Amino acid sequence: MKKEVLQQVFADKFAGQTGTVYASPGRINLIGEHTDYNGGFVFPGAVEQGIMAVIRPNGTDTVRAYSIDLDVYAEWQVRDEKGPESTCFRFVYGVARELIERGVEVGGFDTVFAGDVPLGAGMSSSAALESCFAYGLNDLFGGSVSRWEMVLAGQATEHKYIGCNCGIMDQFASVFGKEGKLMRLDCRSREFEYFPFEPKGYRLVLVNSCVKHELAGSPYNDRRRSCENVASAIQALHPDRKIETLRDCTWEDLEAVKSTCSAEDIQRATFVLGEKDRVLAVCDALVKGDYEEVGRQMYLTHNGLSRDYEVSCEELDYLNDIAKECGVTGSRIMGGGFGGCTINLVKDELYDAFVKRVTEAYEAKYKITPKIIDVVIGDGSRKID
Ligand code: GLA
Repeated sequence: MKKEVLQQVFADKFAGQTGTVYASPGRINLIGEHTDYNGGFVFPGAVEQGIMAVIRPNGTDTVRAYSIDLDVYAEWQVRDEKGPESTCFRFVYGVARELIERGVEVGGFDTVFAGDVPLGAGMSSSAALESCFAYGLNDLFGGSVSRWEMVLAGQATEHKYIGCNCGIMDQFASVFGKEGKLMRLDCRSREFEYFPFEPKGYRLVLVNSCVKHELAGSPYNDRRRSCENVASAIQALHPDRKIETLRDCTWEDLEAVKSTCSAEDIQRATFVLGEKDRVLAVCDALVKGDYEEVGRQMYLTHNGLSRDYEVSCEELDYLNDIAKECGVTGSRIMGGGFGGCTINLVKDELYDAFVKRVTEAYEAKYKITPKIIDVVIGDGSRKID
């Protein structure tokens, strides 16, 4: 959506006024899934698609908000204890409260917002919304929170107001994204590096299964709990070591708790330890420009997410099978799982044939046209002049 259109809707809703426009993107992730809350590495980048909001402080304590995409309107008091019920406004409400906790004097404001990140596609539309308001409200209310605090405000919103115990990858990617760059983030130390991503001869393309994923209330939190159970069991065996997350555990550690943890928890942890190794393998391969190896690791991640972590679904597995059949270099579920997109590393010369084949095959089997999204790595949270 163009900012002029957003300003026009804002003027229509709020007596001809104009506000300041902010934007924040969704994200992709090359490799490193479900590693963020295990203290591991992730490899995300921001995408061109995102959320845009017009915001204007209104001098009262009331927030008046309109979501163009869902065509819903709500009002609430900025310091209200309960806040609005509708999920899309809870993100805005939660972020405002989190900023207040971090010392920003957020008052009432009027806002309209809209986005082009497909909802429930695993591209983090919710992080885009949180980051957009974290950035915009901090700017408009004279706050001085750092970009990292914006990331944490978004994550805390998920935990406290939405019920999803997510890691920090999505909000991080949305706030810190840079055009043309992927980011390798160490989720334990929070150190990160920008990585130019120009795979000569290959492209990244998402195939949206259109199976809507919903992480709040989903088994996502159960997966996280399994990982924490295993880490605690290992800590109990080794009081001399500091085991905060599975990042601190080895394959031998896992072997040693096989009889004390549930088979399911062990299976989840097996995926996470494997994913830790795969992220490192992909880093090496990227340095060498070995995209065949990157792709091989992506398929392994898919298998792990599907069989051990069990966050796939029939449709995503089918998309993965078709990619393999077509000779696509790498393909896997992207994001939390339970629906959404696959991310595919495709040779330029195979692109047209793959898109045609995957579209036709998926339509024939599920009577839905999958959405093809070419990945363009864009910028993070910003004010739009
Ligand atoms: C969701 C969460 C992230 C991360 C991914 C899986 O997108 O929000 O924190 O855990 O799933 O890698």
